[in-house]
Amino acid sequence: MVIVLDFGGQYNQLIARRVRECSVYCEVLPHTTSLDEIRERNPRGIIFTGGPASVYKEDSPTISPEIFELGIPVLGICYGSQLMAHLLGGRVETAPVSEYGHTEVEVDVSSKLFQGISSKTVCWMSHTDYIAAAPEGFRITGYSPVCPVAAMECESRKLYATQFHPEVLHTKDGKQMLSNFVYNVCGCSGDWKMDSFVESAIQAMREKIGSGKVLCALSGGVDSSVAAVLLSKAVGRQLTCVFVDHGLLRKNEGDEVEAVFGPNGPYELNFIRVNAQERYYEKLKGVTEPEEKRKIIGEEFIRVFEEEAKKIGAVDFLVQGTIYPDVIESGLGKSAVIKSHHNVGGLPDYVDFKEIVEPLRLLFKDEVRAAGRELGIPEYLVSRQPFPGPGLGIRIIGEVTAEKVRIVQDADAIYREEIAKAGIEGLGQYFAALSNMRSVGVMGDERTYDYAVVLRAVMTSDFMTAEAAEIPWDVLHKVTNRIVNEVKGVNRVFYDCTGKPPATIEFE
Ligand code: XMP
Repeated sequence: MVIVLDFGGQYNQLIARRVRECSVYCEVLPHTTSLDEIRERNPRGIIFTGGPASVYKEDSPTISPEIFELGIPVLGICYGSQLMAHLLGGRVETAPVSEYGHTEVEVDVSSKLFQGISSKTVCWMSHTDYIAAAPEGFRITGYSPVCPVAAMECESRKLYATQFHPEVLHTKDGKQMLSNFVYNVCGCSGDWKMDSFVESAIQAMREKIGSGKVLCALSGGVDSSVAAVLLSKAVGRQLTCVFVDHGLLRKNEGDEVEAVFGPNGPYELNFIRVNAQERYYEKLKGVTEPEEKRKIIGEEFIRVFEEEAKKIGAVDFLVQGTIYPDVIESGLGKSAVIKSHHNVGGLPDYVDFKEIVEPLRLLFKDEVRAAGRELGIPEYLVSRQPFPGPGLGIRIIGEVTAEKVRIVQDADAIYREEIAKAGIEGLGQYFAALSNMRSVGVMGDERTYDYAVVLRAVMTSDFMTAEAAEIPWDVLHKVTNRIVNEVKGVNRVFYDCTGKPPATIEFE
C-alpha cells in the first residue's frame, strides 16, 4: 500500500484515487500520524500532499524529519515538496512570481519519475512559495521559466518532489508520473483490485462494530445500498435498515428495494419498510413553494426515521452512505442557496447512537459502483442514475397529490423503458416531470383538459452544468404516443431543450 499524508490540500483524495487507479491500495492519513503507526502499516511508499500553508511559518503543518530515514520512498507534492526541501536543509521562499494553472515544465527524462514522458510537458501549478535551493544531495529534475526547482530528487534515498500537481488531469503526464512513482520507485506490484477494498472494508467494519447494533437509513440509492450490503456482510443481523417509502419514489421502486433488501432478498439483515405515503401527501397538501416542499419532505423523513429508531431503541452505530464528493461539498459551503439538498443537511436529533460509521467515505462515485458490483448488488441498483432525496416531490411543479404522483410515475416509467429499448447510453440524468399546466386537447371525439408532461434528458459529468441531450426524434415520438395513450390525465408532452445554466436539472 501507499500512504498519502494530508497537509491540508484540496486534492488529497484525488491523489489516493490516482494511486488506486494504478491498482495499488492507498489511504489518506493526517500528517500528525505517528512514525510508529506509519511503520506498522508497512507502506511501499508515502506521498506528501499540497496544502495552503508556508513551511517557514511557525504553526504550519509539519512532520518529523525521521520519516526520510525509514527507507520508504517519499514523493512530496507542492507544499509537500517544499516541506521536504525545508526539513532537509534546502531553502523555501515566497516566489517572485506565483504560478497558477497550465505551465510548461522541462523535465529530466533520465529520472525514474519521468520515464516515458517527453522532456517538455504541461503541468498544473498552483503556488506562491517555491523551492529556491534544493537540499544537499538532491538534483534538480524539472524547472519552468519562473520556478527553478519544479522537481527534484535524491535517488539513493528514494526521495522525490514536484512543485506541480501530478494528480490533476491538467498535468498531461501526471498519471504516468504517479504510476512511475508507485511502480519504478516504490516497486509496488499493482495487484490491488476493488475486491480487496471490499474485503478489507468488511473486515474493518467487523472489527470496529464487534457485537454492537447498527442502524442504517436505506434510500435504495447507490450509496446507501452499497453501504448497507457491506455492513450486512460484516455483521449480518446486527444491522437494521429502515427504508422510508415517502410515496415520491419512481414507479415500483419501493417494491424493488424491498425485493433486494427485504426478507426474501439475498442479504442477512433486518429490513423495516415504512409506508409513509399518506402521511407525506397530507403534509404536502396545498404547498406549492419548492423550498417549502423540500423542507417538509426532509423534516418528515427525519421524524419518521426517529419514530422507527425509537422503537428499535439504543444502537451503537449509525451508518451513513457518505462518499468523498459529499465530504468536499459539505466542507466548501455555498454562497447562495439555489436548492437546499436535504440529504446533506444533517442528522436526526433523537436517534440514540454512539458513533457514525461511513465505510464509503474515501470513494468516488464510480468506485462505489465498482464496490457494489463486487458485492453482487443487482446492476439496475448499482448503475442507477441519481435520484433526488425529495424525489418526485420536486418533479411535480406546484402542489403534490397522489393523482399527480401516479401520472408522473407512469410517464417516467414509459420514458425510461423506451430509452433502454433504444439502447441510448451516456445520459447524465433523464426523467419525466409534470408541469402545472393543463391545456385543451381532443381524444376520440371528446374535448380534454389535461396535464402536460415534460421530458428531460441531460448530458453532464458533474451536475453543476449540463446540456440538453439530443434524443432521436423517433424515440421521443414513441414515448409521446405511449404517454398520451397509456397515462390517464395527460394530453400533451414537451421536451425540455434548456441547458444548466440557465435552467437547473430538476424543475424545482
Ligand atoms: P439541479 O436541479 O440543482 O440538480 O440542477 C443537480 C443534481 O442534484 C440533484 N438534486 C437533488 N438531490 N436533494 C437531492 O438529494 C435535492 O433536494 C435535490 N435537488 C436536486 C438533481 O437530481 C441533480 O442530480
